Amino acid sequence: VEPNPCVGAVVLDADGRPVASGVHSVYGGPHAEVVALAQAGERARGGTLVTTLEPCAHSAKKTSPCVPAIVAAGVARVVAGTGDPNPVTAGRAAAELAAAGVGYDVGVLEGPCRAALARYAAHLAVRRPWTIAKWAMSLDGRTADASGASRWISGEASRGLVHVLRGAVDAIVVGTGTVVADDPSLVPRVAGTRTPLRVVLDSGLRVPASARVVVSARETPTLFVCADGAPHGRRRLFEDLGVEVACVAASPGGGVDVAAAFAELHRRGVRRVLLEAGGTLTAACFAAGVVDQVAVFVAPLVLGGQCAPSPLRGGGWPLAQAPRIEETRVLDLPPDALVEGYLSAAPSAVRPSAPA
Ligand SMILES: NC(=O)c1ccc[n+]([C@@H]2O[C@H](COP(=O)([O-])OP(=O)(O)OC[C@H]3O[C@@H](n4cnc5c(N)ncnc54)[C@H](OP(=O)(O)O)[C@@H]3O)[C@@H](O)[C@H]2O)c1
Repeated sequence: VEPNPCVGAVVLDADGRPVASGVHSVYGGPHAEVVALAQAGERARGGTLVTTLEPCAHSAKKTSPCVPAIVAAGVARVVAGTGDPNPVTAGRAAAELAAAGVGYDVGVLEGPCRAALARYAAHLAVRRPWTIAKWAMSLDGRTADASGASRWISGEASRGLVHVLRGAVDAIVVGTGTVVADDPSLVPRVAGTRTPLRVVLDSGLRVPASARVVVSARETPTLFVCADGAPHGRRRLFEDLGVEVACVAASPGGGVDVAAAFAELHRRGVRRVLLEAGGTLTAACFAAGVVDQVAVFVAPLVLGGQCAPSPLRGGGWPLAQAPRIEETRVLDLPPDALVEGYLSAAPSAVRPSAPA
């Protein structure tokens, strides 16, 4: 659910018996309180709603606020583990619940609840999207063969999960290299999911006008982020074809300034990104400190050779300074394995030194 908070809720009936529970399980999906109240139905009336976090009272997000739903359900009292660190909503539940005559106790379990919400709280201060870097690689760490072919390294189950991931983000980001090599369409093929914005970081707007992301731009929103100084003629060409174009600063090493590009996405309301780039841009994103989570599909084959690319190009990091992943989980997706985890520092502090 990142960058949203991990929240759970339990409904007790008027006699104090637990009758329903819910969790916020999908970014953009219903909040825990709404799930639990829907399950409880009439049994919530006169009862108590217990929740990890102060219920939200603001509409600046993808779902409607919880406080009106709580009032409508007729609960007599709300108990929240801790307050919401988000200034947009902090403290508002108290006033709105009091006005509706609903009892409210907040801060009854500060330590454990704040620990559960640490990533959410840290990310609030960062004006960029939560970013999941995803790649598929062979057992020997190659993302394509020496000729650049990468379809398909991973198996069907892995590719199916990628479509689920795509349907749970606001934007998919790739670099020019991936568009030129693979000509991907970058749309989730799972019914009922949202259509994320397709974003290409293309400093000089050199992607061919015949690329799938361009020719389908009128049906599927597409944004090219170029560097200041990109040719005006190319910009006009892409805009005429339905592609949005945003210009940001160039990075000192060439390419688009990654931090500026991700800040631009945040400004456009993008809160969750799936980075599906090749090794060049993925390395630049790690170096710029914009990656929060990794999802790595490891397939049981070896590609070998000197020229087959790795998931992160560039000079790399000395072992002592290597970005580390924590809370790793391994999911069995026969014949592949998915390794997931979070970058070890809090988002605001994730600033690994640039590859040499
Ligand atoms: N197995 C997998 O999961 C997977 C996923 C994706 C791609 N691939 C493979 O990776 C290969 C393509 O790799 P790639 O590294 O060329 O693709 P990439 O990382 O997606 O694209 C690199 C390009 O992005 C542009 N870019 C813009 N700003 C940048 C910045 N700040 N830093 C770095 N790049 C920036 C640059 O082009 P400009 O200078 O023109 O702006 C750069 O050449 C293909 O063979 C593809 O099949 C594999």
